[in-house]
Amino acid sequence: MSAETSFRTHLCGRVDETQAGNTVVLCGWANTRRDHGGVIFIDLRDHSGIVQVVIEPDNAAAFAAADRVRYEYCLRIEGTVRARPATQVNERLATGRIEVVAATVEVLNASAPLPFMLDETPNEEARLRWRYLDIRRTPMQKQLRLRTRLVQEIRRYLDAQDFQDIETPILTKATPEGARDYLVPSRVNPGQFYALPQSPQLFKQILMMAGMDRYYQIARCFRDEDLRADRQPEFTQLDIEMAFIREQDIQERVEDLVRHVFRAVIGVELANPFPRMAYAEAMRRYGSDKPDLRNPLELVDVAEFVKQSGFKVFAGPANDPGGRVAALRVPNGATLTRKQIDDYGPYVARYGAKGLAWIRVDDLAKGREGLTSPIVKFLDDAALDGILRTSAAQTGDVIFFGAGPYKTVSDFMGALRLAVGRDLKLVEDAWRPLWVTDFPMFEFDHGENRWVSLHHPFTAPTIEDVAELMANPGDALSRGYDCVLNGVEMGGGSIRIHRPELQSAVFRLLGIEEEEAHAKFGFLLEALRYGCPPHGGIAFGIDRMATLMCGVDSIREVIAFPKTASAQCPLTDAPSGVPERQLQELSVRVVRKEAAKG
Ligand code: AMO
Ligand code: AMP
Repeated sequence: MSAETSFRTHLCGRVDETQAGNTVVLCGWANTRRDHGGVIFIDLRDHSGIVQVVIEPDNAAAFAAADRVRYEYCLRIEGTVRARPATQVNERLATGRIEVVAATVEVLNASAPLPFMLDETPNEEARLRWRYLDIRRTPMQKQLRLRTRLVQEIRRYLDAQDFQDIETPILTKATPEGARDYLVPSRVNPGQFYALPQSPQLFKQILMMAGMDRYYQIARCFRDEDLRADRQPEFTQLDIEMAFIREQDIQERVEDLVRHVFRAVIGVELANPFPRMAYAEAMRRYGSDKPDLRNPLELVDVAEFVKQSGFKVFAGPANDPGGRVAALRVPNGATLTRKQIDDYGPYVARYGAKGLAWIRVDDLAKGREGLTSPIVKFLDDAALDGILRTSAAQTGDVIFFGAGPYKTVSDFMGALRLAVGRDLKLVEDAWRPLWVTDFPMFEFDHGENRWVSLHHPFTAPTIEDVAELMANPGDALSRGYDCVLNGVEMGGGSIRIHRPELQSAVFRLLGIEEEEAHAKFGFLLEALRYGCPPHGGIAFGIDRMATLMCGVDSIREVIAFPKTASAQCPLTDAPSGVPERQLQELSVRVVRKEAAKG
């Protein structure tokens, strides 16, 4: 593609020796300006790269203009390409074999002194506050351009397969995906609110009922939830839905899509097919429903050896059907210092651990005498022997133990597994995709004393019989699946419920009474009654995919204008107050928390 406009003829980074002798017109920013005793050098930069411009003193007008140039001035330079003498070639620069001898130097705009240098990584507050300067930086240029290519390749692939790209409303009704809704007051319907979609879930299902057959959308989603490195209040999904399919149809299709985009955008060949693992196995071996398979460490269960033990910390959970006692063997863990081992205690406490027991195997052959540990004194020989055998302990290892409720232990031991893997540099440099399947349909929330769904409430159970499902909700598996890459949940989806009786039954199980179900999802329940086809789909987090592809550690790196952890935009200062008149028009009154209390 030609870079030529009425303003310029070439991009800075694309000028090379084949153009020697030609006249070029370049536009960009002054990356540096050096005054070498009568000759001025300007490194002119645009998104394509940098080229050296020479301004010689005998060109008085150009020289005077160049003399005024400062950092990040925006310039237009016309000049002649000249090959550099061999001694002055700069191999580190793509344009290092040439320079441009300026005929004219036009300052298109001056720049105020910058709050930070563009070759540094400023703190994040500054990056977001002056995002236009931050995005001028080379890494951000690369990341946003890679994201563009990702979206282009997704579209290319799906367009070729007859997927229809259909937009769905932003001003809509709540779509439950487990977060709080963003609400928008309606001026013309006082006291009523739209919700911003947490996903297009219900609309894409309705499009299947409407006979669209295959749908996709690059869709913005809004969720008011606690923000982390991989979560933003508004983010982008690749949203997909297909009619007349089973799990394997959609999984094979999107796997192929994911392989295609990784190959096309970053030249990486992912496994074919992606391996698969049941949720229960993932929790058992990795303590996570999105295991990072690049990390070789695995959990093993040791409850059976400590059931009779007098050590209540272990015996309690070992004898509780809802409990877990898990061990994590760290090969050569003895290289960890005592302080490192102790520091994992407070670390796992953040994930709910009440403590973190450990055994260091100094010499396996010496039995009990060869172990260092705060807990071996509580364990009899049979228990110790069983634990060491089951965890396949070797001299030089450290074994960590977690005991407590199943979910808590899995969470904190899963987090420990990742931390130790990172600290001991055990994480393989590879791409490890995985399908996680066979999720439980419901989880019992003891706090709220009710069943909650693991996916959203439209996911089909493997049991289709309503009576059977109602009798044993805890045993039901769902037809949901997650697509995981290197420990990141990239995508999740399911086969949906397509019969109204089953959908109503699931609502009832989730404690959504008939009246509420009709108020919230009446349109869906009604649409299900008009010959709804079996259907299913998935949504991928585009921000997360781009983050993985760029090898960066936060989705803010691939979003042009993200929010801070407190959901603010330092560039625009959103959110902000609004004039009283506007609130009145919307029939909205702001109640200050302090005032409300008094
Ligand atoms: P789910 O809630 O799993 O499924 O979301 C799908 C994918 O979207 C990404 N994602 C996020 N990315 C950034 N910030 C967030 N706050 C955020 N929340 C989710 C993740 C996730 O895997 N409607 C269903 C999909 C379906 O069933 O087809 C849904 O939204 O990568
Ligand atoms: P305590 O008897 O509470 O002093 O604990 C003895 C040892 O067991 C200490 O090393 C604790 O860190 C460890 N410990 C305590 N609670 C747990 C737990 N829930 N899981 C794993 N180890 C624990």
